[in-house]
Amino acid sequence: MERTNWTEIEFILQGLSEYPRAEKLLFATCLVMYLVILLGNGTLVILTLLDSRLHTPMYLFLGNLSFLYIWYTSSFIPSMLIHFLSKKKTISFTRCVVQMSVSYSLGSTECVLLAVMAYDRFVAICNPLRYPIIMSKALCIQMAALAWGLGFFNSLTETILAIQLPFCGKNVINHFVCEILAFVKLACTDISLNEITIMLGNVIFLFTPLLLICISYIFILSTVLRINSAEGRKKAFSTCSAHITVVTVFYETILFMYMKPKSKDSAFNKLIALFYGVVTPMLNPIIYSLRNTEVHGALRKLVSRHWFWSAVVTRLAG
Ligand SMILES: *[C@@H]1O[C@H](CO)[C@@H](O)[C@H](O)[C@H]1NC(C)=O
Repeated sequence: MERTNWTEIEFILQGLSEYPRAEKLLFATCLVMYLVILLGNGTLVILTLLDSRLHTPMYLFLGNLSFLYIWYTSSFIPSMLIHFLSKKKTISFTRCVVQMSVSYSLGSTECVLLAVMAYDRFVAICNPLRYPIIMSKALCIQMAALAWGLGFFNSLTETILAIQLPFCGKNVINHFVCEILAFVKLACTDISLNEITIMLGNVIFLFTPLLLICISYIFILSTVLRINSAEGRKKAFSTCSAHITVVTVFYETILFMYMKPKSKDSAFNKLIALFYGVVTPMLNPIIYSLRNTEVHGALRKLVSRHWFWSAVVTRLAG
């Protein structure tokens, strides 16, 4: 089989080129959403790194998630914004591969991180006395490394399988971004092996974490319901509510995409896919900072500049 000469290939991201007015509107909407994502998640990362009161496993994992969302959205939104405004919607083979592998890797890591965060809440509520011993710094770092590593290897495998395919002319991707399934469909050969491994990867990385999250919450609920006072129940559960909300938003959108009837209107499908790629990253910092006194306190401290600079100096010095 002849190897494809990658430098000669360019893909066309069709996006919504048939509706130029809608593209202008999408540009404005996505730009605003992207800025909100950068601002919200950037603030959370800075807070979790600088404020020692937020150096608990829950907030460190949250910092990881926000850090991930910044890179995840940055892997496709900027180039998408440019394509919305320009007539020429081409992307080189290499950039397309980088875009799809980075977003695939971070998407997989996101699922594992959500499961790790559920485990953290499970230990905090079902085993509160031993929580500091179980969730040691070493375990936290191991679990975070596991999440990043698994995502990376999942993406690496799929990417290696995908770029070995021969490409010979089909080059229109009917989407806003390079997405792995759309990419392999452009190859001029049998792609069933790729489709199977991608489906398998999706199932493993979406449904195993979902299962673990559900099991954690079954234990959490049964523990919370055994608490006698209503006040105590509320207090115990309040530390989980933000995580539950993020998980629900994330999985609702994913499941919706999988389960929805195959609509003929491809513009609508593309818009839904786009919307769901940005909505969880945008809502995550908002959900976590709403009514959260710890985050509010840390933010207030950050805003008073004196503290900010002294913290930076101590960080650099220490
Ligand atoms: C990610 O999590 C690890 C382990 O808890 C932590 O050491 C690290 O500071 C976190 N990174 C960010 C950016 O929050």
